Amino acid sequence: MSLLLKISDIRKAYNGSPVLQGASFSCDENGIYALMGDNGSGKSTFLRVCALLEPCDQGEIVYLSHGLILPHDIELRRRITLVLPKIGVFNTTVFNNVAYGLKIRGLERAAIRDRVNRMLDFVGLGHKKKQAALTLSSGETQRLGIARALVINPEMLFLDEPAAFVDVRNREIIEEIILNLKKEGRTTIILTTHNRQQAERLADRLLILMKGRITIP
Ligand SMILES: Nc1ncnc2c1ncn2[C@@H]1O[C@H](COP(=O)(O)OP(=O)(O)OP(=O)(O)O)[C@@H](O)[C@H]1O
Ligand SMILES: [Mg+2]
Repeated sequence: MSLLLKISDIRKAYNGSPVLQGASFSCDENGIYALMGDNGSGKSTFLRVCALLEPCDQGEIVYLSHGLILPHDIELRRRITLVLPKIGVFNTTVFNNVAYGLKIRGLERAAIRDRVNRMLDFVGLGHKKKQAALTLSSGETQRLGIARALVINPEMLFLDEPAAFVDVRNREIIEEIILNLKKEGRTTIILTTHNRQQAERLADRLLILMKGRITIP
């Protein structure tokens, strides 16, 4: 495994109300970690902080690769991705939505086409690539968000309630996508869910966020 994450004693408050109160966690093996906890317990905050999208007030977030501590720079940020439950889509086709991250990285057209097509097939949207992204159903939109994140090959993927607001069929497809990623073994996934059975189906390790701290049940 190339990217390791160790966070220690993270504290974060909003307007004086503490949310994270000494959360520590370390992912020392590739795999899937499922974070559970009550509404408002701080799961999404925790993911944003870990994904370096928001600073914490105290504590340390350390990404390591081959024993070296990595600076929190653009290079590291490109290896990390957070997918939110309600993703914002760009007002263009499904294909272009997924291609965007590759275009801004300057990949050649043929390489972009191959990777986007492969990724759309991977999430079961190959037949929808010409459709306007804004017309997709919620379940399809959720999968588009995952495709858009995966196309850039992140090594650390944070999924905030990846199967919220979708029906059973789409939940199954999303779970299958996550399990296929796990089989490929190149990505560490930290996901949040309110569904205990889903956490058990997907995760190698279950984590609970309670009173601002992470516990392993
Ligand atoms: N930007 C913000 N400004 C002020 N308060 C915030 C902000 N973001 C989160 N909070 C507060 O922090 C607490 C934790 O929110 P967070 O979204 O992390 O919880 P969660 O565990 O993801 O909840 P849910 O299960 O409902 O998604 C909540 O009380 C929320 O209102
Ligand atoms: Mg949340």
